[in-house]
Amino acid sequence: MNKELRKAVIAGNWKMNKTRPEAKALIEELKPIAEKATCDVVICVPFTNLETAVELTKGTNIKVGAENVHFEKSGAFTGEISADMLTEIGVEYVIIGHSERRQYFGETDETVNKRTKAALAAGLKPIVCVGELLWERKCDITKEVIARQIKLDLFDVSAEDAKKTIIAYEPVWAIGTGETATSEQAEEVCSFIREQLTEKYSKEVADTITIQYGGSMNPKNAAELLAQPDVDGGLIGGASLKAADFGVLLDAASNG
Ligand code: 13P
Repeated sequence: MNKELRKAVIAGNWKMNKTRPEAKALIEELKPIAEKATCDVVICVPFTNLETAVELTKGTNIKVGAENVHFEKSGAFTGEISADMLTEIGVEYVIIGHSERRQYFGETDETVNKRTKAALAAGLKPIVCVGELLWERKCDITKEVIARQIKLDLFDVSAEDAKKTIIAYEPVWAIGTGETATSEQAEEVCSFIREQLTEKYSKEVADTITIQYGGSMNPKNAAELLAQPDVDGGLIGGASLKAADFGVLLDAASNG
């Protein structure tokens, strides 16, 4: 088992939640809780909260991420934000290709790939999301779907850059539904992702890449999921919005 070669990363994905005062309150509550964590702690917050989050987490072990980034450096892309705009305010991580972006905003593996490369070029650490739909799992093509996403999303990403990338396995049927993948299901796909990364790069590279599980991870199921050999952390939606719940997940990852 090579778990010790990689960093456990727990990342909150706040999605479209928290006004600025609410964000301030949650971060202040989180700071003393996160302090004892030995895993990496990231909060990915709406664009309007990024500066507040960076400011309030200065000098703490909490890192800040965005929830999306555009692939061009600048130009006529109404409503989009570039990688340089994120790095200049101190953002370090960015979620790319979340299933909600793919489902509601028409993002494809091609745009996920472009966004990933733009993020890496600017020095951001991408959290690239992959995962199958319920229908795809029922049709028994989960591994085909995941293999395809890994190939397309990481097309032309060098081994050096791949080492800076986090892969989040988020089965779409488990997101926000309360239905979690069992620890066996999560491990099966996360270890399959590592096999794909080994094939694409090398074992040495694959062994250093953090692979998260995401989808209804909560204080009750986190320890078991995080104890799996290829589950190196979590991308957390609902449970990242309550400091106490997020703290339990940080403890589980720190001890896992
Ligand atoms: P939930 O934890 O709310 O299921 O969301 C998971 C997710 O989409 C994280 O990116």
